[in-house]
Formats: sequence, C-alpha cells, structure tokens
Amino acid sequence: MAVLRFPEVNRTIDNESGIRSELAALGIDYERWTLDRVATNASADAVLVAYSMEIDEMKRRGGYVTADVIDVKPETPNLDAMLAKFDKEHTHSEDEVRFILAGRGIFFFALENGVASVEVGPGDMLRVPRGTRHWFTLCEDRRIRAIRWFQDTSGWTPNYTGSGIDTHYQPLCFGPAYLGPRVASGLRV
Ligand SMILES: [Fe+2]
Repeated sequence: MAVLRFPEVNRTIDNESGIRSELAALGIDYERWTLDRVATNASADAVLVAYSMEIDEMKRRGGYVTADVIDVKPETPNLDAMLAKFDKEHTHSEDEVRFILAGRGIFFFALENGVASVEVGPGDMLRVPRGTRHWFTLCEDRRIRAIRWFQDTSGWTPNYTGSGIDTHYQPLCFGPAYLGPRVASGLRV
C-alpha cells in the first residue's frame, strides 16, 4: 500500500480510497493490483505473460504501445548515475506508468504550494500524466521492480525544470525499508 503525504500541512493518507481520490484531484491514477500472478523471482517474460490482461487493458486506456519490466537492485551497475537522472524535478512528453512488483520508492509531485509525495510499494499502480512536474527516488533498500508502459520509448526522457525544488525535500521512506523510529518506538509512523 502506498503512503501519500503533504508535508507542508503535515498530512498523511495511507488508505486506498483516500489516496486514490487525492491523487485523482491531481490528475494521477492510483490503483491496487493483485500480486499473486507470479512468483517473486519470476523472469521478466513470465511477468509480462502473467499480467498480459492488465498490460493490454492499460495499453487501451492510455494508447501505450509497449510494456517492459524494469528491475533495479543495489548491485545494478551505475545505479547512482541512473537514480540521479530522475531525482531532480522533471517532466516527460508521455505518461509515466508503473505497476510496482517489488521494492519501494517515492514520487514527489510539485503543487501550487509545496509538494505531494507518494511512497509506492508492491501492488501499487500509478499513472502520471505527461507534463506533470515530478521526481523519483528509491527507498533505502535501493530496490524496485516494476512493469512500465510506453507510448514511445524515445519520448520517455526527463525534461528538467531546473527549479531546484527537489533539494528542499528529504526522500524519507516509512515503509518496510525504513528501520528508524518506528522500530525503536513500536509505533506506526
Ligand atoms: Fe519521471
């Protein structure tokens, strides 16, 4: 389950319907999809076959022509350089569509005042419309596996805004990868 935050007003939403309606107001689709189609260690090809119904439906919904599976691990070569491409505010000329199979990360979305951050994890589907100002980074375990959809793979490059807003926010994750105060206090953060 994702966690949606509006840090400027100290607001956190961690229920599915609340996240869906708040993100819909920003033009972003959020859905929870089943994870039981494939084993966690299934190959990319097996994932694409197992989720072919959802993949095809999403293609119809958004005019996407291809889908693939991205698999990022701490040992992925040039991981820091890869992450640095996307952790500064940018837009794309096509939608950014992700279904998270494993790992966790945070999307930040620029608002009129401040940001909304969405920590995504396994089972979360997010569809961010083209032109949305956002940035993304991984949680502490530096792991993400996701199905991606493309209208045109060449269009999915970051167009940086250069606003610098991304430097004002700590990419803190509070999900399973986070081992800070929640462990110490026993409280759910
Ligand atoms: Fe992006």
